[in-house]
Amino acid sequence: MKENLSKQAIAILEENFQEGGFTIPCKGLYPFQWKWDSGFIAIGQAYYDIEKAQTEISTLLDAQWANGFIPHIVFHNESDTYFPGADVHRSDLSPLASKKYRSTGMTQPPVTGFVLEEMYRIAKDKKSILAYIASEIDKVYDNHNYFYTNRDVNNEGLVFIYHNWESGTDNSPIWDDIWKTMNPPEYTFERRDTKHVDASQRPSNREYDHYLHIIEIAKEHKYNDAKIAEHSPFLVLDPLFNAMLIKSNESLINLYQLIGDNADKIAQLKKWQEKSVKGFNDKLWDAELGAYIHYDLRNKKPLRFVTSSSFSPLYAGIPSKERAAILVKTMMTKFGGDDMYLCASFDPDSDRFDPKKYWRGPVWINMNWILFYGLKNYDFNDIAERVKNDSIKLIEKNGFYEYFNPIKKVNETENVGYGGNNFSWSAALLIDLLND
Ligand code: SER
Repeated sequence: MKENLSKQAIAILEENFQEGGFTIPCKGLYPFQWKWDSGFIAIGQAYYDIEKAQTEISTLLDAQWANGFIPHIVFHNESDTYFPGADVHRSDLSPLASKKYRSTGMTQPPVTGFVLEEMYRIAKDKKSILAYIASEIDKVYDNHNYFYTNRDVNNEGLVFIYHNWESGTDNSPIWDDIWKTMNPPEYTFERRDTKHVDASQRPSNREYDHYLHIIEIAKEHKYNDAKIAEHSPFLVLDPLFNAMLIKSNESLINLYQLIGDNADKIAQLKKWQEKSVKGFNDKLWDAELGAYIHYDLRNKKPLRFVTSSSFSPLYAGIPSKERAAILVKTMMTKFGGDDMYLCASFDPDSDRFDPKKYWRGPVWINMNWILFYGLKNYDFNDIAERVKNDSIKLIEKNGFYEYFNPIKKVNETENVGYGGNNFSWSAALLIDLLND
């Protein structure tokens, strides 16, 4: 059974691999290279074709901008199955953008650092993978330098995101409060995502108006970060995004130590790390909720909701043991009932919870993967096993979908896989979970 699932997963990754040296998240719905998808994909590829994993990451890093920024989508190829494409994003407006590839002018969670360390862990030939990592690691370091230089506006070790698509959790109910502060025009555009996936599983048109409006503002300022920090109506400290940065800092430190030399970079990374972990615990912990939360920098207020992102700091070793115990208790009380698969993406007790709609409730395999390793970090081994087994069960029963309904009862009578099918990171991370 295990072997069969792994084989299917490899077949999906191979099918989604493109001639340009990258893997699409899935056919039709996402026909380009996405930043954090590529990272998770490379982890799966590392098990059966380490060179392909290297190609995946190198292709992404090849699209880096002059300031170290790495975009969230790289438009290597033409495709009319996705909106908004390269002509909307217009990366050429920035003088710093890659001259080689068109891309978006926004980014996604910085997973690349820890992905390189995962590749090192998985690879059989350590010498060869370390030589590869040595040839690319400075680009990832430059990316972290970009974040700390341009996006830590309060100098507190926490970097902002200026668009909901940068969070990766595109239509989370957390953003609802921010949308209420905006009144964007009603744009004329043709959705493509809802041609591939039922509209009940995707964001609304009005939500897209907000998404497009923020892009228009960023374009007006030629994707200049200082201007964006001043003018974007969306400016958020996201716990998932910052936890990924902190985890990746740690991985870069470990990898530079293996490579040798680079004392200055290691020292700088340690400085960032110390400041970020402190800033994170000071600013993003909500004692009353017993969870890490988002902070709205533009409107200067905490966004007090519990999401699967709230638990991601476990993966980066951010909470103390005591705080981790509180966090896991919150997770199990709210998300971990016997009637639910772990882990819903949004608080099931909230009236904003929707078990079918993208990031408003469904289970995501990449988040489960982060939680699995996070829980193991703090020795919550039984709960980690449950997260792993729930992930395997959902895929086995429903297929390699993008996201899944967390309610067990519904799973008994319906297919509860939603969004794109043959989804690359669900396949890639399942390979890793099965190998654990
Ligand atoms: N995932 C987003 C979309 O749905 C973009 O990153 O289009």
